[in-house]
Amino acid sequence: MGQLDGKVAIITGAASGFGLADAKAFVKEGAKVVMTDLNEEEGQKQATALGDNAIFVKQDVSKEEEWQKVFDKAKETFGPVNAMVNNAGILVFDNAETVTLDDLHKTLSVNLDGVVLGEKYGIINMKKTGGSIVNMSSIAGIIGVPKVFSYAASKGAVRVITKAAALHCCNNHYPIRINSIHPGYAHTPMIDIYPDMRSSAIEAQHPMGRLARPEEIANLAVFLASDKSSFSTGSEFLVDGGYTAQ
Ligand SMILES: NC(=O)c1ccc[n+]([C@@H]2O[C@H](COP(=O)([O-])OP(=O)(O)OC[C@H]3O[C@@H](n4cnc5c(N)ncnc54)[C@H](O)[C@@H]3O)[C@@H](O)[C@H]2O)c1
Repeated sequence: MGQLDGKVAIITGAASGFGLADAKAFVKEGAKVVMTDLNEEEGQKQATALGDNAIFVKQDVSKEEEWQKVFDKAKETFGPVNAMVNNAGILVFDNAETVTLDDLHKTLSVNLDGVVLGEKYGIINMKKTGGSIVNMSSIAGIIGVPKVFSYAASKGAVRVITKAAALHCCNNHYPIRINSIHPGYAHTPMIDIYPDMRSSAIEAQHPMGRLARPEEIANLAVFLASDKSSFSTGSEFLVDGGYTAQ
């Protein structure tokens, strides 16, 4: 028995990093997974490697017209969607003095618009049949991280729209739970391309003395997508090696 037997999941940004780790963990736990990403070549390759229980659909999460097609493709291939992870995201380094509106809007268009649309189409498609929506935020959505100002704006917003959408579902008696995940820094392409971000100084900011492995974040995504988290909604889940406990 897998923890996700009977689940049909959409995972965005699934060509690399956390999204890919989620896709692998979801398939291992019995789910059928629609992996979406802008990166078609890598996404297709990774989905093929996962076998018959995964397909890839090219999607830009910031484009509203692409969302319903992903749900339709999922239903046609595997059946109605009952789990999703709004994971796709981008990172820019800026601060309260150097921020440009271009960088801010670019970041918000993926990290916030993508989750807004994921919640909207998730609710529209799952409100009768039920499901679990998991939104990927960050420790930067909980505490101040001065060097990622635009990113923090997007991740703080994801934290509160998770709660607003979860309460909307409760108020309307929709059987949908919505929660957010807040990782500390982890070894994914987003972070590993910056040598500074792999330094011992960054590791030391995490009391456990290291960065996370993507699988450690995926374990939490599996729990939140599964029926084991049946009494959790509108909640924020930290997985940060103690970063925010200090
Ligand atoms: N790595 C970390 O330390 C860390 C920490 C906290 C939160 N996060 C968050 O976790 C999520 C995944 O990050 P990651 O570290 O795996 O990054 P990553 O760069 O490895 O993966 C992100 C994926 O999103 C895809 N993507 C980017 N823009 C897209 C768009 N418009 N539409 C569809 N796909 C798009 C990319 O092609 C890529 O495959 C992000 O939301 C990120 O902000 C990461």
